[in-house]
Amino acid sequence: MFVQILGSAAGGGFPQWNCNCANCAGFRDGSLRAQARTQSSIALSDDGVNWVLCNASPDIRAQLQAFAPMQPGRALRDTGIGAIILMDSQIDHTTGLLSLREGCPHQVWCTDMVHEDLSTGFPLFNMLTHWNGGLSWNRIELDQSFTIAACPNLRFTPLPLRSAAPPYSPHRFDPHPGDNIGLIVEDLRTGGKLFYAPGLGKVDESLLAIMAGSDCLLVDGTMWDDDEMQRRGVGTRTGREMGHLAQNGPGGMLEVLEQVPGPRKVLIHINNTNPILDEDSPERAELVRRKIEVSYDGMSIEL
Ligand code: MLT
Ligand code: MN
Ligand code: ZN
Repeated sequence: MFVQILGSAAGGGFPQWNCNCANCAGFRDGSLRAQARTQSSIALSDDGVNWVLCNASPDIRAQLQAFAPMQPGRALRDTGIGAIILMDSQIDHTTGLLSLREGCPHQVWCTDMVHEDLSTGFPLFNMLTHWNGGLSWNRIELDQSFTIAACPNLRFTPLPLRSAAPPYSPHRFDPHPGDNIGLIVEDLRTGGKLFYAPGLGKVDESLLAIMAGSDCLLVDGTMWDDDEMQRRGVGTRTGREMGHLAQNGPGGMLEVLEQVPGPRKVLIHINNTNPILDEDSPERAELVRRKIEVSYDGMSIEL
């Protein structure tokens, strides 16, 4: 299986357009050794030709342009995107669908809850019907594996995760299973197994077992400290409130990952405030010591 990181940053990207936190300002003035990152999205393939897009970020146009297999040129109008899976209905994971309107209809896989959000609070499914059939909904049933015609050798198993519905959601303060999912993706030929969860608020024993049985973990790297937005003076919300488990501190992602020694460990969906973006930071050195990688735009993983 080919895993292509199209965008490795959280909502806002890095640097964020209106942000002057130490990271964003340091990147702009050249004093920080770091890479710019676009917003959270990956693509998966079993043959390197046909791809399943996981999340459609607002940066999708640049992301597709940066990765040649997405623009194969087999016909006058063409794309490598065979289907789209949405992990949640957050703005950074869904607004890219608007930019894909010229290629409708698209096969979109998401849960009932995500489909409801995208038919009410942010009615993409309704709006895009005006573009050549819009989005065809394929329902993701929780805990029920599925396959997608575009990549027949990949088996997807969705896992309901504890995270949060978006601020615009009619059930923002009334969480439901399916607001946010993780995916186990298995290549039925190579046996390679990916666990992908860009929004992960809590890890319980059963999830730990699933993680331990994977070859690669591509997991929530949003924040280093739960109160990082406050520390950096750019916001009041904690990672926990937004459904993101911070790396540092008791019960944090570092401790979680320490309990699963086997798989390759890669962080994704990194917020612009996170000190791990600074390649010379002590936090980044701590990740290196723990053999935890920080994903970057253009990173390829083969499983
Ligand atoms: C999240 O991951 O919590 C959201 O994408 C935050 C946002 O709305 O940017
Ligand atoms: Mn996000
Ligand atoms: Zn910033």
